[in-house]
Amino acid sequence: MSARADVWVIDLDRSMSGAARADAVLTPEERARAGRFRRRDDALRWSLSRAALRLTLADRLGVAPQAVVLEHGSHGKPRVRVGTGMPPLFFNVSHSGGLAVLCLSADAPVGVDVEAVRSIDGLDAIVGRVGSASERSALRTLAGAARMRAFFALWTRKEAVVKALGKGLHLPLERFSVALLPGEPVRVLASELDELPPQSCCLRDLQLADGYAGALAMIGASDLSVRVRGFDPGRILELPAS
Ligand SMILES: CC(C)(COP(=O)(O)OP(=O)(O)OC[C@H]1O[C@@H](n2cnc3c(N)ncnc32)[C@H](O)[C@@H]1OP(=O)(O)O)[C@@H](O)C(=O)NCCC(=O)NCCS
Repeated sequence: MSARADVWVIDLDRSMSGAARADAVLTPEERARAGRFRRRDDALRWSLSRAALRLTLADRLGVAPQAVVLEHGSHGKPRVRVGTGMPPLFFNVSHSGGLAVLCLSADAPVGVDVEAVRSIDGLDAIVGRVGSASERSALRTLAGAARMRAFFALWTRKEAVVKALGKGLHLPLERFSVALLPGEPVRVLASELDELPPQSCCLRDLQLADGYAGALAMIGASDLSVRVRGFDPGRILELPAS
């Protein structure tokens, strides 16, 4: 199946002008969740990214942002309820630091991940836990900045895959392998997981912003075209309600 995914990148800190109005499109439960963040900036960032998700889904579904009904799968993956007889709409969200990423597709389940590229304490221990044998040996061939880039490619690609499958970290990350060496085509190389035949997953890197690594996975597509755009929910939220 040939599929399409739309991706929106949100610079949360630049969109802060709309944060005060984000609450207006959130449910009471979402406002309560935002209220549980210890740092005010984190609460504002989360509220903005949830408001952006509601605006984007509402636009696709032709309803008000407040009327979008979000539900959760058995492993916590949010999904959107569509009207009776309407085709499904798949989405996924990721945030890291000041950046949020939303992905929507009418075609098949998607997963996205974004990570700020930074130095990580105990990188070897993390790779030992989440990397397959072939990923661990591929990483050993690299050093310095190339190794760091490959690590974040590994992280975001694997996480996009498990998020597309919807099971998150309930899946053993070390039991499948993604390509991570520079120049290698981005794909799932091998998998011991019943839910992940390697050919069943389309994997793409996302160029989102300087200093960030990103990836998108779609299950059940043989070919995938991806459109990435910037989105400033602050500007829409600032508009007076009509
Ligand atoms: C969901 C999960 C897979 C990703 O979490 P994360 O990387 O911390 O956070 P992200 O910002 O990328 O994703 C969070 C979003 O994923 C979505 N999500 C939650 N559960 C999900 C699931 N089971 N499947 C797919 N998406 C899920 C939600 O929309 C959530 O957004 P919200 O907080 O606004 O509701 C989580 O299981 C997790 O704990 N990850 C830990 C990260 C890690 O150690 N990775 C190892 C590197 S290889």
